[in-house]
Amino acid sequence: MSNSTNDNNNNNNHDADSIDPQAFRQALGAFATGVTIVTTRDANGVDVGLTANSFNSVSLQPPMVLWSLDKQALSLKAFTEAEFFAVHILADNQQPLSDRFAKKGSDKFAGLALTRGKGGIPLLDDCAARFECKTAFKYEGGDHEIFVGEVVEFVNFNKPPLAFLGGKYAVAVPRVAASTGVEDKRELDASFTRGSLSYLVSNAHYLFDRQLRDIMQQHSLSRGQFYTMSQLGNESPLQLKLIRANLDFAGLKLSAAETRELVAKNLVQEVPDAPAPSLALTETGRKMMIETSAVIKAMDEDAQAGIGYSEMQLLHQLLRKLVQNLMSGSSS
Ligand SMILES: Cc1cc2nc3c(=O)[nH]c(=O)nc-3n(C[C@H](O)[C@H](O)[C@H](O)COP(=O)(O)O)c2cc1C
Repeated sequence: MSNSTNDNNNNNNHDADSIDPQAFRQALGAFATGVTIVTTRDANGVDVGLTANSFNSVSLQPPMVLWSLDKQALSLKAFTEAEFFAVHILADNQQPLSDRFAKKGSDKFAGLALTRGKGGIPLLDDCAARFECKTAFKYEGGDHEIFVGEVVEFVNFNKPPLAFLGGKYAVAVPRVAASTGVEDKRELDASFTRGSLSYLVSNAHYLFDRQLRDIMQQHSLSRGQFYTMSQLGNESPLQLKLIRANLDFAGLKLSAAETRELVAKNLVQEVPDAPAPSLALTETGRKMMIETSAVIKAMDEDAQAGIGYSEMQLLHQLLRKLVQNLMSGSSS
């Protein structure tokens, strides 16, 4: 029998008797899975549970699932003796809970809101889906014990799942058709570039910026003045030289007259005795920036409507990467 991969170029083939456990583990990591927490109650009535991604469906009729447990696990005895166990498929925002249940032994249930299922087993809410199972079969599986459970109850909470890939938590996002069908006639008229990345990002930027312009107009601020205030909202005081360098990056300027105007409006003040000319927000300026950041937060939330937690995480990750690529491209 051969456990080798059927790879024509042979570079990555491994014979069954020379399998390196580390490489085997890595190869298994190519199979993207969800993440579950499996729970039960031991003979003394103590709640027991662990994080497991070995979960899989087995049969529809009767409804059956399986998972496997490392024979070194502290919970082995409890699961071997248990009549019932519950499998919780974790939702995309439950990585901290997964980490908690992947730690050996510790009181994993401390402070968690629990309900009780068949045989008093602990049940967690707020996951993606949950299956209460009656232990049907147990099999030896090398260094693991395989548990097959007949599902006696289940709840689908209809939440997007947490994913695991290549030994790391991952984001599971359903693929969508290229066209969302929501193209708006008010988009910039650039049909020849439609579908290009730069078009999409520019269009999103333009639509965000339109709302920012409203805020600037409301406070009668030029763009340079607004972005100066934004910088000071993050860190105050700041050297004028640094403010100008950051503005320059976005092709913006802050003239001496514009600075004087900000001071006259009592939004910023020059910092006396600073080693280099510096600006700081006044109390009025700080209040304005707090209000503005609330407006921007609401604007962000509106823009995120219908986009899930995982999708947002992915979007942030990809936009950061995009900015990095563009910066390294522009500096080369
Ligand atoms: C994403 C992930 C998946 C895991 N899958 C399994 C698994 O399927 N089976 C297993 O025995 N351990 C698995 N573990 C490791 C256990 O969660 C970990 O060893 C835990 O500490 C065992 O708890 P216990 O020793 O208190 O029983 C996984 C860990 C993580 C982070």
